[in-house]
Amino acid sequence: MQTEILGNTKSVNKQGNVLIIKTKEAVAHVWVYSPSVIRINVSKSFDKNDTSFAVIQNPADRFDYTESDDEIVLTTSALKLRVSKSPLRFNFYTADGKVLSEDDERFGINWQSERVINYRKLYPDEKFIGLGEKTGNLNRRGSSYVNWNTDAALHGVDADPLYKTFPFFIGLHNGLTYGIFFDNTHKSYFDFGATTDEQMSWFGADGGDMNYYFFGAQSVEKIIEDYTWLTGRMEMPPLWSLGYQQCRWSYMSAAEVLDIAENFRKEKIPADVIYCDIDYMDGFKIFTWNKETFPDPKGLIDKLKAMNFHLVTIVDPGIKVEPGYKQYDEGVAKDYFATYLNGEKYITDVWPGRCHFPDFFRDDVQDWWGTSFTALTEPGVEGFWNDMNEPAAWGQNMPWLVKFGEYYMPEVRNAYGMQMARATYEGIRKIPDNKRPFVLTRAAYSGTQRYSAVWTGDNSAYDAHMLLGQRMVNSLGITGMSLIGVDIGGFTGDPTPALMVRWNSLGVYTPMFRNHAMQGTKMREPWCWGKENEAIIKKDIELRYRLLPYIYSGFYQSHKTGMPLSRTLAINYTDNENVFDVKYHNQFLFGDAIMVAPVESTRFTAEVYLPQGEWYRLSTEENYTGDKAIIAEAPLTDLPVFIKAGAIIPMQNVIQSTDEKGDGILEVNVWFGNEASSFVYYEDDGSSYDYEKGEYYKREISFDPKNRLISFSEVDGSFESKYDKIKLMLHGFASFSISKETGKSFSQYENDKGIIKIDF
Ligand code: GLC
Repeated sequence: MQTEILGNTKSVNKQGNVLIIKTKEAVAHVWVYSPSVIRINVSKSFDKNDTSFAVIQNPADRFDYTESDDEIVLTTSALKLRVSKSPLRFNFYTADGKVLSEDDERFGINWQSERVINYRKLYPDEKFIGLGEKTGNLNRRGSSYVNWNTDAALHGVDADPLYKTFPFFIGLHNGLTYGIFFDNTHKSYFDFGATTDEQMSWFGADGGDMNYYFFGAQSVEKIIEDYTWLTGRMEMPPLWSLGYQQCRWSYMSAAEVLDIAENFRKEKIPADVIYCDIDYMDGFKIFTWNKETFPDPKGLIDKLKAMNFHLVTIVDPGIKVEPGYKQYDEGVAKDYFATYLNGEKYITDVWPGRCHFPDFFRDDVQDWWGTSFTALTEPGVEGFWNDMNEPAAWGQNMPWLVKFGEYYMPEVRNAYGMQMARATYEGIRKIPDNKRPFVLTRAAYSGTQRYSAVWTGDNSAYDAHMLLGQRMVNSLGITGMSLIGVDIGGFTGDPTPALMVRWNSLGVYTPMFRNHAMQGTKMREPWCWGKENEAIIKKDIELRYRLLPYIYSGFYQSHKTGMPLSRTLAINYTDNENVFDVKYHNQFLFGDAIMVAPVESTRFTAEVYLPQGEWYRLSTEENYTGDKAIIAEAPLTDLPVFIKAGAIIPMQNVIQSTDEKGDGILEVNVWFGNEASSFVYYEDDGSSYDYEKGEYYKREISFDPKNRLISFSEVDGSFESKYDKIKLMLHGFASFSISKETGKSFSQYENDKGIIKIDF
């Protein structure tokens, strides 16, 4: 096997905004993207036209560097990159010289045939977080992973690889933070000291370039902000997608779909979304409807709309080989399908039988796919669930000789799902109805947040999967995704009633709240669990709807800064060792101020770690001083959920769907704390792009305990809030007498656009 290690520098050249360093083995390019983001590409065959699927920024125009006989030092306001020339190694420091990350001196970057690997030094206290949807611990130290998007049906809680590729991690050591995004879509590998006797960490891929972005901002939050600056942020999601979603493989007929929707309304359990899984189609042919069981799609959807339900349908990439089927005929006529290198169309079996696969790596195929959605959009489908796009086929792997665009399958497999989601999103976005598309995808690559929500695929109905699902949601949040679901209840198998109730209570705090189950399992809808359990499930779904103003404002943060809605405690409490303890590593902050401790369905008390600061139990208002673990009561009726002191949480009354206006009262809850705090409240019409033109309603709500003042800033934006009144709810303020100087009732105010000040 031809093995080479990156050797001595032969020449150094600056050309415009890039530094080019040549060795015998390869050429290195160095660009500065921003003061805290530097890109390195080391390649044997650098192609300047090779664009990234993930990155949407360009390098900065200039940077400063010095060169001596031994090294090149490139300095920004945040970072220092010292490049030692012989052998060529890349070592990163903070601007004031603290070590962030260094190449392993001996092995650095190296090749074995096409495979390229970068060995880096491992520091004694170093921890790693990230990689998105991966099994294992929050701290990935001691683990290794592979990225190779896979239809991981029936996967256990240790399985790897799964459906998605997010080759981005954050390293933590010595109180410092750094990130590395290895932008390479080949099969890739990450080893955080698992196989190297704790000496090195390493990452690499089966082919392509050693092409990575180094992030040097000094906090996990800022690194996420930089990573999502580089790879993009989500748009505001349709508000309805944040309501409760009911799915099943499959509701078998229009009558059954209606029956389920009607039952939600009859039982007065709030819900916004219902799904059609593969059986709505005619023989699983994408963009068709089964004429017998779904004879009148528009009629069905009109009835659903009248009940304030939104319909999402599944679309898989595989196009059935069947002359006379529109998408097949068009695809063949225009050569839209992936082929072997000799031009023969690739063919294999998946749900519809023998299928061809759209070549989503070509612009014309993207356009065609986008316009094919009329069969769904014309009758009124509003959400598009992209499944099986690893791509999945019976037999799993595609032959390596299959081509996608200019590439062979192994070069870009990990981006196929993202390209499908992108084609779906862009196609729907082109419909001139000024509506936000809702796209959900199973396979993904870095940057998918620009187009789609994701869910974590086929989990199973047992407790360990519920906990793993939460860790994956938290980890996907580090890698730019915020709108994330897991199959609540577990896809495979039947949950016990206790697990269903518990998982649903966690679903309240899952960014996308979707109940889904596999064919052949028992029915899963909230009323299938007996009256007592139904009442608990209903109460929890109602809580989700009460929290929507807070949740929507949380997504505004994701849209603006990339902060995910579900946040591992490692984001806000990075230096606290306890948050990485496997006893507590499933805990997370939901938005700025709600801390949730997932608990198995078989335990009714839980050891919960409360980070530093003051906390209140949501259900009891009980007050705790943090920086310690407590034993919390955890009956199935009451998941341990804690509110940070100083929290400002806007809520609303219970509505049955986000299409209902409600009682017009925004209930602003404030929990007393000794520190001042603030919250950015955000609202818009929840469905259009008018917010991009300033039609939003945004104001900062502040709590100032020293001056005993709660204030609302002037409203920014031209949108009229749907709430006419603001009702203030104070928690933990017992020791304060309430001023009624204003003469108004203390708790309720007109929702004026100007500054509102309330003394307490
Ligand atoms: C895949 C999906 C699952 C879906 C099923 C049938 O297994 O992951 O969610 O229900 O296919 O379409």
